[in-house]
Amino acid sequence: MDLRFEREPMLTSIALSDFNTDIFDLFDRDWFLLTSGDLQAGSFNCMTISWGSLGTIWNRPFAQVAVRPTRHTFGFIDRYPDFSLCAFSEEYRPALQLLGAKSGRDGDKIKESGLTPIASAKITAPAYAEASLVIECRKLYAQDLDPKNFIDPAIMNSYPKQDFHRVYFGEILEIRGTGRYTRQDGHA
Ligand SMILES: Cc1cc2nc3c(=O)[nH]c(=O)nc-3n(C[C@H](O)[C@H](O)[C@H](O)COP(=O)(O)O)c2cc1C
Repeated sequence: MDLRFEREPMLTSIALSDFNTDIFDLFDRDWFLLTSGDLQAGSFNCMTISWGSLGTIWNRPFAQVAVRPTRHTFGFIDRYPDFSLCAFSEEYRPALQLLGAKSGRDGDKIKESGLTPIASAKITAPAYAEASLVIECRKLYAQDLDPKNFIDPAIMNSYPKQDFHRVYFGEILEIRGTGRYTRQDGHA
């Protein structure tokens, strides 16, 4: 018996109106794996993130992520047209810790994490067989945070190396998840 297959969560496509989550838990407590690149070309990288948001802009659903230019992933998300955000159940916390501590420029950290890259439904960036939630995004906008615009001076404490994030807005094209992420109350 293939135990790995047995453990892979069953994901179904979730309409935005049925998407059910606590957004603060999702970013701050559960964390996401942000992946950009091209699975087919074998050129992609990922990193753990906990800063970001989901919402609406320009009448479109979007995800916003913030990537420091020092990350190896930065070179991918900057160059490729899309990115995925994947969330995992608690048993994969060590994998997310590893992917958020090591850099893809120093070796094959994805292989070391044990996660399995698989094709996404609508974008070139991969998702993972073990993910319990996959959000596929197409880049709409990017901008470097400018310290001149920091209204609260305490924000500078996050940048001792002056490596100000570049924020990316991605239009949400697809959400797939386990039943945990689907509204059960019949709301439409
Ligand atoms: C819980 C957690 C949250 C993180 N959130 C972010 C983030 O929002 N933005 C960011 O640039 N780095 C964030 N990081 C750091 C990157 O994941 C880390 O530097 C990673 O090793 C970069 O990998 P890479 O060089 O392969 O891109 C986070 C790390 C952890 C552990």
